[in-house]
Amino acid sequence: MDVSAAPAGTLATRPAVGTQEMLAFAVGLRDTVQRLSMEHRFAVAEVETKVMILREEFLHLHRYNPIEHVKSRVKSPKSLIEKVLRKGCAPDAEAIRASIRDIAGVRVTCSFIQDCYRVLEALTAQDDLRVLEIKDYIAEPKANGYRSLHAIVEVPVFLSSGALPLAVEIQIRSVAQDFWASLEHKIFYKYDGEVPERLRAELAAAAASAAALDDRMEQLHAEVHGASDLADDGFDELTLQRLWGLAHTP
Ligand code: GTP
Ligand code: MG
Repeated sequence: MDVSAAPAGTLATRPAVGTQEMLAFAVGLRDTVQRLSMEHRFAVAEVETKVMILREEFLHLHRYNPIEHVKSRVKSPKSLIEKVLRKGCAPDAEAIRASIRDIAGVRVTCSFIQDCYRVLEALTAQDDLRVLEIKDYIAEPKANGYRSLHAIVEVPVFLSSGALPLAVEIQIRSVAQDFWASLEHKIFYKYDGEVPERLRAELAAAAASAAALDDRMEQLHAEVHGASDLADDGFDELTLQRLWGLAHTP
């Protein structure tokens, strides 16, 4: 972005750094960023709770846990300011909330691809949550091989002043996809975005292997899942007989 085109006027008309006016602006900006961080930590907590409830309930209903792990983050003040400058958005809370939708991020890593869609559906069906955008990079992987489900949702956070809808970016992917993405991310940064062609080809091939692994593991899981595991929960034959007796005692 051309910074000199920002709404605050040309460099010549701006107060110099160190003047009272600029100092007041900096203090205001710091407060805004701190407030945004706090609000988005609440939004992350709301989404994390939703994911935890789904995980527990799914475990209860289907006797297996579809979610391997959940990782959350709130954009750091430094990268938030960088994104404000990059987008050329007005540096006030309202404008930032409206135009930067990934201040809050929750990443859900699932065991299998099917679980990724299940989790996405279960989350986005909740009626206190508004879906702003969904990108299915599993059905349509990026050219580099990146696969993941992305959703930008808006959740209400209840503050003393009332409900504030806030955007949260949710990324859902399989363990294999997550493994690939974290390595690709490191390589991308190491080469400052200019990844050599040979490495790019290797990464694309590795992404295809990860997808094949996901398919195989899902098939294995389908074969194995369903075997009875009632005994693991203390429902041995004798206990079951006695409980039956109790349940059928007039
Ligand atoms: P941003 O401006 O980065 O937010 O991108 P976008 O608004 O076009 O959204 P997109 O859904 O493409 O990507 C959002 C986030 O997904 C990124 O910030 C990364 O965390 C992740 N992501 C997207 N593409 C890739 C990729 O190729 N590799 C890896 N490792 N992560 C990716
Ligand atoms: Mg984004």
